[in-house]
Amino acid sequence: MTLDWSNKFSRRSKAMKASAIRELLKLVDNPEIISLAGGMPDPTLFPKETIAAISKDVFINHGGKALQYGATEGIPSLRETLVKEGIKEGIKGLTVDNLIITTASQQALALSAEVFINPGDTVVVEAPSYVGGLQAFNAFEANYITVPLDDEGIRVDILEEKLKQAKDNGVNVKFMYLIPNFQNPAGVTLSLERRKKVIELSHQYDVPIIEDDPYGEIRFEGEKLPSLIQLDSIGNVIALRTFSKILAPGLRLGWIMGNKDVMRKFVIAKQAADLCSPPSTQYIADEFIRHGHMESYLALVRKTYKKKKDAMLEALERYFPEEVKWTKPKGGMFVWVTVPEYINTTEMFKEAIQEKVAYVIGSAFYPHGEDTHHLRLNFSLPTLEQIDQGIKRLGNLLKKKIH
Ligand SMILES: Cc1ncc(COP(=O)(O)O)c(C=O)c1O
Repeated sequence: MTLDWSNKFSRRSKAMKASAIRELLKLVDNPEIISLAGGMPDPTLFPKETIAAISKDVFINHGGKALQYGATEGIPSLRETLVKEGIKEGIKGLTVDNLIITTASQQALALSAEVFINPGDTVVVEAPSYVGGLQAFNAFEANYITVPLDDEGIRVDILEEKLKQAKDNGVNVKFMYLIPNFQNPAGVTLSLERRKKVIELSHQYDVPIIEDDPYGEIRFEGEKLPSLIQLDSIGNVIALRTFSKILAPGLRLGWIMGNKDVMRKFVIAKQAADLCSPPSTQYIADEFIRHGHMESYLALVRKTYKKKKDAMLEALERYFPEEVKWTKPKGGMFVWVTVPEYINTTEMFKEAIQEKVAYVIGSAFYPHGEDTHHLRLNFSLPTLEQIDQGIKRLGNLLKKKIH
């Protein structure tokens, strides 16, 4: 008789659902379909020759260490490099004890969930929020307080109201999960005034902040704003950073900065998860920064993505019906589209596939999947021609639905 696995699975694994995005994206596996759905960097930009040369040097000169197990916290030289970069950025009092390396930000999110969330615990998330963050928190059976966004990021007035309500009801909110720069999926950036307010609320209500910032360096215009960890004076912010969008996601490398006692907890949780992130890619990333390649690579990324973003906004103006609205990001990789409420973007997805264009359904970005009149578009991966054609196809479909 075959084994009945269902009574072996943990409660947690029974609660896990495959990400709606990843399920839908299986339908996109057809070269004729123009995908505006993914969240990937443009692979034609990857600094392949530079990484090849650095890798050769790393394996020849540090091969014994690069191919060996490493410290769970990360290799010392990369941590020191990132501390220097963090201090340059303006993070006060940062030391190597406040910084650990992770297997990119997705691991940092999973570890955050493991370190902080008991089943039924409450966390605050932006609505919409990053689907991978929600998936990580869902696995640990989080409860959500959702706070909407507008063009200046999270609505701090509503955040304040909800934090007060939670306190009055005796709820211990474990953290707020915020993506302040060029948010995924909404593309919006938290204003300076609201950043200060968020920090103030964190202090007032004793709620830590998990600041997830993969896109801050991919700014096309305007002044860089101080990060939340930079603005915080008392160590309430745990900052997640990643090499995925500023170098290459295939390295699977990121880092966390924050209170050193909290970092110790993360290290213990990480030990059980993977012992260490690959020392080989840590050496490569470290040498890439130390040899000064990051700025020129980022300049190329910013220039290319800006061109693609402009092409997408122009195509949206040209092909989309006027009843449809969208965000105008100043950086990052995404545009967030709002359609009239009578159009259901989940139902429309299959028709879009028939028209050979794909997007990500808005509902994937809400913890309770309640939203049906948004969709996310990505401009970093498609070519300029694909952007124009893809938006044209989607625009034609939307025009048929408008009444
Ligand atoms: C907001 C946000 N956080 C985290 C991640 C995870 O990235 P990685 O694990 O590659 O660092 C992504 C990836 O798209 C993201 O958009």
